[in-house]
Amino acid sequence: MHIGNVSLSGPVVLAPLAGVTDHSFRLLCREMGASLVYTEMVSADGLVRKNPGTGRLIHFGESERPIGVQLFGSDLAIMARGAEQLAERGFDLIDLNFGCPVKKVVKRNAGSALMRDPERLARITEAVVGAVDLPVTVKIRSGWSEEAINAVQVARLVQEAGAKAITVHARTRKMGFSGQADWEVIAEVKAAVSIPVIGNGDVRTPEDARRMFDDTGCDLVMIGRGALGNPWIFRRTVVFLRTGAHLPEPNLRERMEVRGT
Ligand SMILES: Cc1cc2nc3c(=O)[nH]c(=O)nc-3n(C[C@H](O)[C@H](O)[C@H](O)COP(=O)(O)O)c2cc1C
Repeated sequence: MHIGNVSLSGPVVLAPLAGVTDHSFRLLCREMGASLVYTEMVSADGLVRKNPGTGRLIHFGESERPIGVQLFGSDLAIMARGAEQLAERGFDLIDLNFGCPVKKVVKRNAGSALMRDPERLARITEAVVGAVDLPVTVKIRSGWSEEAINAVQVARLVQEAGAKAITVHARTRKMGFSGQADWEVIAEVKAAVSIPVIGNGDVRTPEDARRMFDDTGCDLVMIGRGALGNPWIFRRTVVFLRTGAHLPEPNLRERMEVRGT
């Protein structure tokens, strides 16, 4: 599987998780079989203003590759400048956050707020694609609310704008992280675009991943909360998808060894 010129060694990727997916956690997940890892979301404003807190979020090591960095913001020019800075840092791809439900982010018309303004969302994507040579991907939700599910429309627009892959977290903004993800939306997006589609939402076991591939036809599966305290999920899922075999859960010694690194 390729995303632009980035080659991936397997079908399961680590989700961006603010406060969680730092350098050591990403490395651990790569070693356990995640074929792609992402930084947590990074503010374009923070980058452009050289905020030291933002600077710390974009530290990574060579052994994490391939690694994506996730950018959020709402101003086209600032997003493009932020993306240029990230490209200079040597990331393999840039992901745009159009899914964050947090009030502080939404109030500034960033994250999931952009699902309510697909034209602007597409123009931001286009601006970033035009600013860097790296593959640009986007991460969206199903829509703003149950009454406004527009993932298919947004997916078509970002594909046209030059995005090289799209992740669909199959919940609306209104759902936050509660309720059940509706994977049907992922299937609809997959049927509507030709770029790779990354399915996301409620994959907590190897069997869930198998079901998501079968039910939606998505190209890759992204795991977030299922990896919290459990990076082994990548190894277990990759082996299960390839062979149908269940690796045992890690025993205490294996858990202690990882804690010690
Ligand atoms: C603690 C936490 C932090 C998150 N941070 C981000 C983030 O920085 N960027 C992003 O796109 N999504 C973020 N998400 C959403 C996840 O990437 C993912 O879309 C969501 O948790 C659904 O997938 P899951 O059911 O596998 O957890 C976060 C979720 C959690 C629980």
